[in-house]
Amino acid sequence: MCGIFGYAGKKDAGSVIIEGLKRLEYRGYDSWGVALASKDGIEVIKKVGAIGDFEELEKLPFSNIGIGHTRWATHGGVSNVNAHPHFSADKSFVVAQNGIVENYQELKNTLITKNHKFITETDTEVIVRLIEEKLKSTDNLFDAIKKAFVDLKGRNTIIILPTSGKEVYAVRNGSPLVIGIAQGEIFIASDTLSFGNHTNRVIYLNNYEMIAYKTENEQLDIYNVNNGNKISYQESLIEQDNVDIEIQGHDHYMIKEIFEQKDTIRNAVQYSIEELHDLIEAINKSNHVYTVGAGTAGFAAGQIAYYLRKIAKINVTELKSYDIDSYKEIFCDKDLIIAVSQSGETADTIEALEIAKNKGVKIASIVNMQGSTITRISDYQFLSRSGPEICVASTKAFTAQISWGFLLAMSLVGKHDDAVNEIYRISEMLENYFRSKKFFKSEKVFKEIAKNFANKEHFFVLGKGQNYYIALEGALKIKEITYKHFEGFSAGELKHGVIALIEKETPVIAIISDDEYKEDMLSAVAQVKARGAFVVGISDQDNQLFNTFIPSCKSDYIDSLTKIIPFQLISYYLGIQLGNSPDKPRNLAKSVTVK
Ligand code: AGP
Repeated sequence: MCGIFGYAGKKDAGSVIIEGLKRLEYRGYDSWGVALASKDGIEVIKKVGAIGDFEELEKLPFSNIGIGHTRWATHGGVSNVNAHPHFSADKSFVVAQNGIVENYQELKNTLITKNHKFITETDTEVIVRLIEEKLKSTDNLFDAIKKAFVDLKGRNTIIILPTSGKEVYAVRNGSPLVIGIAQGEIFIASDTLSFGNHTNRVIYLNNYEMIAYKTENEQLDIYNVNNGNKISYQESLIEQDNVDIEIQGHDHYMIKEIFEQKDTIRNAVQYSIEELHDLIEAINKSNHVYTVGAGTAGFAAGQIAYYLRKIAKINVTELKSYDIDSYKEIFCDKDLIIAVSQSGETADTIEALEIAKNKGVKIASIVNMQGSTITRISDYQFLSRSGPEICVASTKAFTAQISWGFLLAMSLVGKHDDAVNEIYRISEMLENYFRSKKFFKSEKVFKEIAKNFANKEHFFVLGKGQNYYIALEGALKIKEITYKHFEGFSAGELKHGVIALIEKETPVIAIISDDEYKEDMLSAVAQVKARGAFVVGISDQDNQLFNTFIPSCKSDYIDSLTKIIPFQLISYYLGIQLGNSPDKPRNLAKSVTVK
């Protein structure tokens, strides 16, 4: 969702900000804007659609300080006027925001009675007018921002550039904000990836912390916005081999990221038994273990819970981060939550963790984005190390995180090395698969399936046991990119209602591992087949019941890991067949930082 990028330094701020905004594109946005301060005041350009090489960009003045924003509309339609940054009425400052002002209607009504005029439909404009209102009783912008910010409800992060161009301010609550430091330069942004090509030195901000940066003496100060006290801060270093966002000759990030899984599953299990030791001890000591996440990360959380129960025989419950209501009552300080997230900034998951943390629950996390909020609030932090995942639909983060969950489960029963060896073996199989002619043969199959599926609207995916969450995630993946109705079920559910939906030619994708549920799965396939379904079988062995067979790599321990890849490929090829954009599906944002 919305992205913030501010820069002050010796370089051309316009180019640095545009580049930074492009590196934030993956979060999802529908419009964008840049404000640059120069001796003639602040120049703003705002546009609907993708950041391109617009002529206007060249018309921007040379400047050493500016702010930029990518907007994912929440309040007010997608338009130039609603895009950020927003000017104050007297054009003395501009504001950009990430978040939602939950009390914006109440604030707006009060501000209208005080004669403030509104020109946009955004909740952001309330912040601008509120700062103007506070400036009636102080001529100090810093104080006015502080006073306005504490009146806002909700998760909000703002950045403010005054016309003087001599300073820049930003305040964080909930929505992410990090600072990048280089010699004579500062970057203020929603994530470290956006400036990771400039510097690896970062400062992480906590909620209700405010930055004031003065260009004259390159002075950075951080304050607590509630009491105005100055805060001492520390720099950290980010791993810079994880900041490359080049598409490397692929047509789309999605296919690049699908191919990368041969490596990323290996990177995710680079944790020694010593590094896992504290978490293992915490799990063994805990009263109850929960896993939590949303969307794909929620399915990964479900799969990790499955491995912990099935392999390590631990009592684990998977939760959806947006639906923990009844668990609030029973969380206690002997519990442990394992949070799963690609971005580490998902508002639903952060809120669930905050609630649990207040009850004394210990937090562990497996997150892809280093330095993110979820990582920083965790007692035990693990990175899935998949590198930047740019495609909105998550692929490599999912398989990396379930590989890590498998490693954890196996380590709990003394089989750490077996787990690593197995992931390496699968990685090698995938490497051979993607490199060999076999893939080009199956690419034809995927393209064929895409053609057959293009005219259908409803599809069903069946899995069981280790493949239950794979069925759910497989269906979600295809929904996201094709906008078609794919529904994942446990094969066990079929006879209890779902079978009523099967008619002649209904497409059903069945995931069949060579495990204790193979016979159940084949019975389910026979039942849908008897009612005329068109069956696609994903398995390591063909079967006469399948109309189309997609071979998948076999693993005795973690067969489910390889079964998701055909869904990612069907999603990609069907999306293309339908003329959709695989990397930027409609309505979706990569990082869901609002509720
Ligand atoms: C996955 O394809 C989606 N983009 C979405 O479901 C995502 O997994 C979910 O919003 C959670 O995001 P997170 O992993 O960044 O926490």
